[in-house]
Amino acid sequence: MRCPPVRASDGVNPVLKAANPCQIRIRTKAEASMKELQGKVAAITGAASGIGLAMAKRFARAGMKLSLADREEKPLEAAATWLREGGAEVVTRVVDVSDADQMDAYAASTLETLGGVHLVCNNAGVGGGGLAWEMTTADWEFVLGPNLWGVIHGVRVFTKHLVEQNEGHVVNTASMAGLVSVQGLLPYNVSKHGVVTLSETLYADLQNANKDVGVSVLCPGFVNTQIANADRFRAEQAEDSPERRARQAMIDQFMAQAMSPDVVADMVHDAVVEGRFYVLTHSGTEQAALARVQRIVDGQNPGRLDAGLFLRGGRNRAGDN
Ligand SMILES: NC(=O)c1ccc[n+]([C@@H]2O[C@H](COP(=O)([O-])OP(=O)(O)OC[C@H]3O[C@@H](n4cnc5c(N)ncnc54)[C@H](O)[C@@H]3O)[C@@H](O)[C@H]2O)c1
Repeated sequence: MRCPPVRASDGVNPVLKAANPCQIRIRTKAEASMKELQGKVAAITGAASGIGLAMAKRFARAGMKLSLADREEKPLEAAATWLREGGAEVVTRVVDVSDADQMDAYAASTLETLGGVHLVCNNAGVGGGGLAWEMTTADWEFVLGPNLWGVIHGVRVFTKHLVEQNEGHVVNTASMAGLVSVQGLLPYNVSKHGVVTLSETLYADLQNANKDVGVSVLCPGFVNTQIANADRFRAEQAEDSPERRARQAMIDQFMAQAMSPDVVADMVHDAVVEGRFYVLTHSGTEQAALARVQRIVDGQNPGRLDAGLFLRGGRNRAGDN
């Protein structure tokens, strides 16, 4: 049987165009299986701080039960206490998301204590840069462990339950750095590009399998969180020094202008209930992504993008994006 041609008006996600359109049932916003969140279970990693904590607050407000994971016990427990005082049902687990066994145990304990799982937010991550010719294996592992392996494990341990019950949604936190290549952020860019393609492929495969399981990939610019203090997890870099204090002062200045994580969490909530895939928080991100693709199409070499791109909403200082 010949497959009918696919037109743009059919609402086909560009990601799916290369796959066999005969086998793909397009999920529209109206079909999103997670329109009603009340009483369902959300598993959120990196929930002790920043975007993860904001998502925990937002989904608690939507009436969800929460299974929160983080490697930092004290702030995780403080967050859980605060959420419980607000009336939420919350369980916590101290987890290093880059550890396969700990993630298996996290999924098992979520199902056991809360009776299921519907929304999975693979969000834990760290910041990290470096030059290819200077970085050590430890530098690479520090970033790829949580940022990429953490998401891989989260998808591996939870998605099978969503597929089995044919209901649910996965949110993977990438970054604007998953859509363009920002100079100086090599391991971070690699991890986030990995999360974007992981999410796009997961989405296409779920569609192809006719499963009512949604996927979103979150690609923020600068958000006011603890991301720039990720070296607290590396003892050798966490020591106090004048350079560290100067760097911190600069970061604090940057962060003061950054988007609130609560705004990001609202966008994630809306994407889940509407079944929307790409969550671009900062205006200008689309143009930056488009400019990258345009260079590929035009046969040009890559542009130079500095980290200020995150604040400037996609536009490089010299307009060189
Ligand atoms: N803040 C930004 O500007 C920004 C921009 C784009 C993407 N992001 C992404 O957002 C996500 C959340 O970061 P954030 O900005 O809220 O930073 P954050 O530091 O405030 O929160 C990250 C949380 O993840 C936890 N975490 C780190 N490594 C972990 C591990 N191995 N196992 C378990 N938990 C771990 C930390 O303890 C922390 O509580 C990250 O994936 C980050 O890359 C942030």
